[in-house]
Amino acid sequence: MKETFKDLVHYDREYVLPTYSREILLERGQGSRLWDIYGNEYLDFTTGISVCNLGHCHPGVTAAIREQAGKLVHVSNLFYNEHQPRLAKVIAERSGLNGKVFFGNSGAEANEGLIKFARRWGHQNGGKYSIICCNHCFHGRTLATLAATAKLKYREGYAPDMAGFTFVEFNNLSAVEAAITAETAAVLVEVVQGEGGVNPATADFLLGLRQLCDERKLLLLLDEVQCGMGRTGKYFSFQHYDFLPDGFSMAKALGNGFPMGAFCIQAQYGSLFSSGSHGSTFGGTPLACAAALAVFAALEEEQILENVQVQSKYFFQRLRALQQRFPLIKDVRGLGLLVGVEVGTEAIAGLQKACLQRRLLTLSAGEGVLRLLPPLNVTQAEIDRACAILQSALEDCSKAS
Ligand SMILES: Cc1ncc(COP(=O)(O)O)c(C=O)c1O
Repeated sequence: MKETFKDLVHYDREYVLPTYSREILLERGQGSRLWDIYGNEYLDFTTGISVCNLGHCHPGVTAAIREQAGKLVHVSNLFYNEHQPRLAKVIAERSGLNGKVFFGNSGAEANEGLIKFARRWGHQNGGKYSIICCNHCFHGRTLATLAATAKLKYREGYAPDMAGFTFVEFNNLSAVEAAITAETAAVLVEVVQGEGGVNPATADFLLGLRQLCDERKLLLLLDEVQCGMGRTGKYFSFQHYDFLPDGFSMAKALGNGFPMGAFCIQAQYGSLFSSGSHGSTFGGTPLACAAALAVFAALEEEQILENVQVQSKYFFQRLRALQQRFPLIKDVRGLGLLVGVEVGTEAIAGLQKACLQRRLLTLSAGEGVLRLLPPLNVTQAEIDRACAILQSALEDCSKAS
């Protein structure tokens, strides 16, 4: 007999660590739509937090996973597999870094790799090890990436923090400069802070960082885990500006839901690593790489980046029109289809609930920011539907406040 929703929630309460709070049980997805266990349909503007960027069960990615699953799922990294070098080449070329790639399984693991890269480089360059990060940044939940994450709440109960991370104001170049010490090896930033509240870095900040890092002989490292893979309308969000980082991480949408992470560093640093100096059992398996290759193929064949640019413009116009009507909206910001609508800490939970009741799935970020992450192949009609729901939810919330 098939279990009921109640049974499954009971199992969850009994057997799953209570690290998440959740309400609905999703069973099936297609494109921008999800269905719960009762068959209710939702418009998904969360994409698994910028993971299923091509929509749920994208036909090309699903076919690639199916085909590869019948051919070869896993071999250890002690052997070549046909897709890993292919994918590394695609990442190196599409990013413009023409660098070297290491494959892991998650965003945190990718960022751990960047941190290890900074230390390995720093040890050969005057014994430097420390990394400058920004307020409101989020880099992951492992001990090292947690120490690189600004929010104290996430670190609570896990002391002592791993040493070697300092925090400065985001978008403040002089603050970064003032924080540099003899131990500083690198600066690590998100081009658009996702979890921290959808805060885009300014061009001046990023270009200034590049110059500062060159002058002071530091590595510039970028976390592209949430803002990469087409989310902002470029393969990687630093490509909006005219500079290259020394290294960057990616994960989330790399496999469109197939778990995967990677980091890429400039080729000149490749010799810092040698056989055995870093590793990951599941990193870059044939199955994961087949999925990611299908993602890159779809981004190109379906002109997804162009769609992001067009739909982003339209979405921002619609949201700014809502901002004119509803004083509750304090700010509308973001880049591409990484979109934040600031409504304040008092209103955010009510607004999300009102959207959910109308079957629009949304996220929150930072302090009181509604985060909207539609699939990158979203249509104008879907944006219209989301905006109509948001308008009706805002009407409710404005009445209540
Ligand atoms: C910018 C950024 N970096 C790192 C991570 C951690 O990724 P993961 O949860 O795959 O470890 C996240 C997750 O939300 C993220 O948004």
